[in-house]
Amino acid sequence: MELLKEKIIQQGRVQEGNILKVDSFLNHQLDIELLNEMGKEFKKRFHGKKITKILTAEVSGIAVAAIAAQYFHVPVVFAKKTESKNLDKDTYEGSVYSYTKDKHYKIRVSKRYINKEDNILVIDDFLANGQAALGLKEIIDAAEANLVGVGVVIEKGFQEGGEILRKMNIQVESLAIVDAMTNNEVVFRK
Ligand code: G4P
Ligand code: NA
Ligand code: NA
Repeated sequence: MELLKEKIIQQGRVQEGNILKVDSFLNHQLDIELLNEMGKEFKKRFHGKKITKILTAEVSGIAVAAIAAQYFHVPVVFAKKTESKNLDKDTYEGSVYSYTKDKHYKIRVSKRYINKEDNILVIDDFLANGQAALGLKEIIDAAEANLVGVGVVIEKGFQEGGEILRKMNIQVESLAIVDAMTNNEVVFRK
């Protein structure tokens, strides 16, 4: 998606540890018009697919998932990362391994909001090691629902997530794939 790549070139900042900071439009401040174009692009990429629900994880996936949902005309469910008193006791759980913190944490969705009739599109902001997406897949599998595909805004092509998911025959659609980040320069896959 050219508009997104331009935005990354203009406003993205490469940080130590191969981290691409995109706080000015995706992870802190939100560029709603750009998110809207992303939503349309996801709709195009999953054209003709039967989708009944979009699933993401809090926090950073929610904005893009919610705006995309307007084009799919389906609800968004976001998995919760913290055990809260307000969350129903009956949940589907997924386990996510955090490389940065070197520990596993759980993500949860109430059994009320996913069921085996659902055809689910996972949407997220970043695909890096694929841990978040795999945790969401665990929830979908536990509910015996169908995973239609995974849509991500930025895939870090030099990390293993995209390959893991594609090897599982999951349709992965990334709006921008970053193959390298060097000297403050971002190299996109053609
Ligand atoms: P993974 O889900 O693909 O395995 O991601 P990983 O564990 O490698 O990354 C941990 C968190 O950092 C994830 O957010 C992920 O989206 C985010 N992340 C990974 N690489 C980058 C990057 O280059 N730039 C930015 N801005 N973020 C990156 P999270 O902690 O799960 O979610 P959230 O609370 O931010 O939503
Ligand atoms: Na995320
Ligand atoms: Na994030």
